[in-house]
Amino acid sequence: MQNLRTLISTAPMAPPFLIVAIDGGAAAGKSTTARALSARFNLLHVDTGSYYRAITAELLRLGVAVDDAVAISSTAASLTLGTRVDGRRARIEIAGREIEETELRGPAVNAAVSHFAAVPAVRAALLAYQRDQARIAREHGFAGLVMEGRDIGTAIFPDADFRFFLHADPEERARRRAAEGQQDSIAERDRIDSTRKASPLQCPPGATGLDSTHLSLDEVVTRVSAPIAARLGAAA
Ligand code: CDP
Repeated sequence: MQNLRTLISTAPMAPPFLIVAIDGGAAAGKSTTARALSARFNLLHVDTGSYYRAITAELLRLGVAVDDAVAISSTAASLTLGTRVDGRRARIEIAGREIEETELRGPAVNAAVSHFAAVPAVRAALLAYQRDQARIAREHGFAGLVMEGRDIGTAIFPDADFRFFLHADPEERARRRAAEGQQDSIAERDRIDSTRKASPLQCPPGATGLDSTHLSLDEVVTRVSAPIAARLGAAA
C-alpha cells in the first residue's frame, strides 16, 4: 500500500487536455493560425466554418431556399453528421458522405452560408456535434483541440483554456481572399454574421484580440503560440 502511494505521488502529472478557441471574421487568418497550432502542439484542428459550409452545400443540393426558414430548420435537424479524422484535421460527413473542398469554398456556398448559419436550428444541429469533437480528439490521442469559427469562445467552448479573436482591416482581408483566387463577398458575410440574433460574430469577453493587418502569418502564430507554450512548459 505504501509503495502504491509512493508510486502515485511521484508519477508525472499528465499534461492537461487543451482547448484553444479562435474566432474572427472572414479571411482574418484563423485557418492558417489554427493549422500551425495544431502541428506545433498536437491538437486536432476543427474548422467549424467548413461544417457550416457542408450543411449549406447539402441544403442547396436538396433544393432548400435561403429564405425558407421552415424547410431550413426541419432539414437541418434531420441531417446525420459524422466525423472523419484526416491527419490532424476533423472532417464532417453528412449521411456518410464528405463534400469536396472545391464545392465547400465555391461561389454558391460563399453566397448562401451566412444566411443558413443565421437560422437557430442550423446552429442547434451543430452545437453538440462541435462539443463532441473534444471526445474525438481524445480518442485519437491528440493533446487537445484547436477550434476556429465565429462563436467558439462565446457559445461552444466559453471555458476554453485559450480564446483568441483575430482582426484585420477589411481591405487586407479582401486582398488575402482574392489572392486565394476566390470569389467571395466577405464584407457582406461579416455583416450578416455580426448582426444575426443567434450567436453573432463578436470578440468573446476576456478573449485575447490580435490585429493581423500589419503582421506576417509567422508573427501571428508566434504571438498566439507564446502563452500556450508557457502554459505547457509550466505544466510539464
Ligand atoms: O474562411 P472564412 O473565414 O471566410 O469563413 P468560414 O470560417 O469558412 O465560415 C463560413 C461561414 O460560416 C461564416 O461566414 C459564417 O456565416 C458561418 N460560421 C458560423 O456562423 N459560425 C461558425 N462557428 C463558423 C462559421
